[in-house]
Amino acid sequence: TTGGSDAAKRNAGESAADLVTDGMVVGLGTGSTAAHAIRAVGRAVDSGLDVRGVATSFASRELAREAGIPLSDLDEVNGIDLAIDGADQIADGDLVKGGGAAHAREKIVDVAADRFVVVADPSKEADRLDRAVPVEVLPAARETVAAAVRSAGGDPTLRSAERKDGPVVTDNGNLVLDCEFGPIDAPSALAATLSETPGVVEHGLFVGVADEVHVGTDDGVTVREL
Ligand code: A5P
Repeated sequence: TTGGSDAAKRNAGESAADLVTDGMVVGLGTGSTAAHAIRAVGRAVDSGLDVRGVATSFASRELAREAGIPLSDLDEVNGIDLAIDGADQIADGDLVKGGGAAHAREKIVDVAADRFVVVADPSKEADRLDRAVPVEVLPAARETVAAAVRSAGGDPTLRSAERKDGPVVTDNGNLVLDCEFGPIDAPSALAATLSETPGVVEHGLFVGVADEVHVGTDDGVTVREL
C-alpha cells in the first residue's frame, strides 16, 4: 500500500468491479485497491451475480471467502474472462508489481485473463518505471540471482519481514529480492534478462500485459485503454 487515498482506491476498484457480468470467471488481484474490487464483487454476488473467482494470493483468497465469492483454482476453470489487479507503479501501460510479494501468481492470472484491468490511484502513475523490481527467487538461488542482478546494473536487497525476524517468504515458499535499477529505459529487455536467470521464479515487471487502467480519484475515475 502506498500513496493515494482510500476513496481514490475505492473508486478505481468499484469501477473495475462494474465490468463483472453473470457467468464470468474473475481473477482477483492483491493489495488495498484490488480489495475494494473484491468487496464490490462480493456485494454483487450477494445480490445474485453468478461468478467464480480465482485468487492471486492467500490474502485475496481470504478476502474473497469473507466476501462470499465462490472460488476455484486456476486449473479448475476454463480460462479467465477478466482479471482486476493493482500495481505499484504504472508507466506507458507497463507495470511494476510485487509490493505484496504476490506477483508470481498475479502474473499467471493476469496474463491468462482475456481482459486485464489495472486499478490504481494517481500516486502510481509515472513517466518512467523507477521503482525497485521485486524478484521472487528459489531460496537456494538467492546469491546467484543477486549476482546476476548486479551484473545487469541492479542493486538487490533481500526483503525482510516486518513482524518476524527473517525474510519474507512468499505464498509459494520462496524469497524476494527487491532490485533497484533506477529509471528503467527498456522494461522488456530487463524483463527478459530477469526471466532467463536460473532460480528466478518470477519478477514484478508486467510489460505489455495490461489492457486497461482505471485510475480513481477522490471524486471519480478515469479509464484508459492500453
Ligand atoms: C502485490 O504483490 C502487488 O502487486 C499489488 O498488486 C500492489 O502492491 C498494489 O497494492 P495497493 O493497491 O495496496 O497499492
